[in-house]
Amino acid sequence: MDLIVKRANQLITLRSASHKPIGERETRDLGVIEDGAIAIDRGRIVAADKTSRIESRFKSEETVVKSGKTVMPGFVDSHTHLVFQGAREEEFELRLQGASYMEVLEKGGGILKTVEQTRKASKEELATAGMKRLDTMLNHGTTTVEAKSGYGLTVDDETKCLEVIKELHNSHPVDVVPTFLGAHAVPSEYKGRTDEYVELLAENMIPGIAARALAEFCDVFCENGIFDYAQSKIILEAGLENGLVPKVHADELTDAGGAQLAAEVGAISAEHLLFASESGLKAMAEKGVIAVLLPAASFSLMTGRYADARKIIQLGVPVALGSDFNPSCWSENMQLTIGFACRGLGVTPAEAITAATINAAYSMNRAEEVGSLEKGKKADVVILDVPNYRYLGYRFGVNLVDMVIKEGKTVLGERE
Ligand code: NIG
Ligand code: FE
Repeated sequence: MDLIVKRANQLITLRSASHKPIGERETRDLGVIEDGAIAIDRGRIVAADKTSRIESRFKSEETVVKSGKTVMPGFVDSHTHLVFQGAREEEFELRLQGASYMEVLEKGGGILKTVEQTRKASKEELATAGMKRLDTMLNHGTTTVEAKSGYGLTVDDETKCLEVIKELHNSHPVDVVPTFLGAHAVPSEYKGRTDEYVELLAENMIPGIAARALAEFCDVFCENGIFDYAQSKIILEAGLENGLVPKVHADELTDAGGAQLAAEVGAISAEHLLFASESGLKAMAEKGVIAVLLPAASFSLMTGRYADARKIIQLGVPVALGSDFNPSCWSENMQLTIGFACRGLGVTPAEAITAATINAAYSMNRAEEVGSLEKGKKADVVILDVPNYRYLGYRFGVNLVDMVIKEGKTVLGERE
């Protein structure tokens, strides 16, 4: 073996025999092994078991002893807007004075302000900013991240952002999974002509992006006043025709039928869901659409509203978590997301951990590779300086990471 990590107070494997996203009944079992160890070879997990059993089965060049600590899969962040230029700190102050998210957007602020700045930025500038953000994510234990475009909104600028995402994936240890979100907002030059922009997306941008394999998923901000149900459907179907799997920014600010739409087009996930209808959620449950919940966005936007996670889970919809890292929710930290998930969504640490690892991996088609510590998967491992998993969420706002291993290599922390 290249490496053995042993004597973890708790080894959280998240192993599961079901080979599907984890629902309500199974979340209570995180596959915890007390005094656990993992054997790693050539970047992959060979075994996860009791320390005594790993020691008797394997010899290794290097051994890391983690007494008293918690060893678990690296976090999988299932929803980010990683690549953009600039910041919107003034808008934060406006929102503190009572302006709503939509009011700011209608005045050309919000997403459109970031679009203006991102269009002006070079690929190098965007990549430099992106690398720094990925470093911060990795330092907080994230080893796989989904990244959406959506601050370019022209053929060239969306392509530029997706090329940066690809470059980041190739040059940073964190795996970056690309989503095309050309339907993030109606760009100002198309104001009042949303249908024409939808046509540009469906007939030009989506086929072009797909032909160059710059994205795996196609997302749309389905919202009253942005892209309505019918427009969103046209966009997602164009994505499907070009081999892009649908995702939906659904029912974040109002009930725009996003949950229903996600089920109808067979989306892999519907994200946000603060105002999702019960019928929409039931349709998602039937079709196996994953709910990607983003409690840090609720916290950051200060609307006082969170998705009804208990109902979503009870209806049989599997839940994943994302940071929603973006200029209006600027935190790279999935541990903090878990803290908000417990308090704002009312999920337990065990549910939040499942949502931030294996279910998040399912939400981006990566569950065969990451999200649990099981034989054959990538050795993406985070070691937390806490005695058991219940400290995640309970302790918040500080970094509990002691060490991060990405594909068998120590990328952060000391081997004791
Ligand atoms: O997921 N809701 C739409 N998109 C982002 C926000 C993007 C922005 O404010 O720049 C979200 O929260
Ligand atoms: Fe988002």
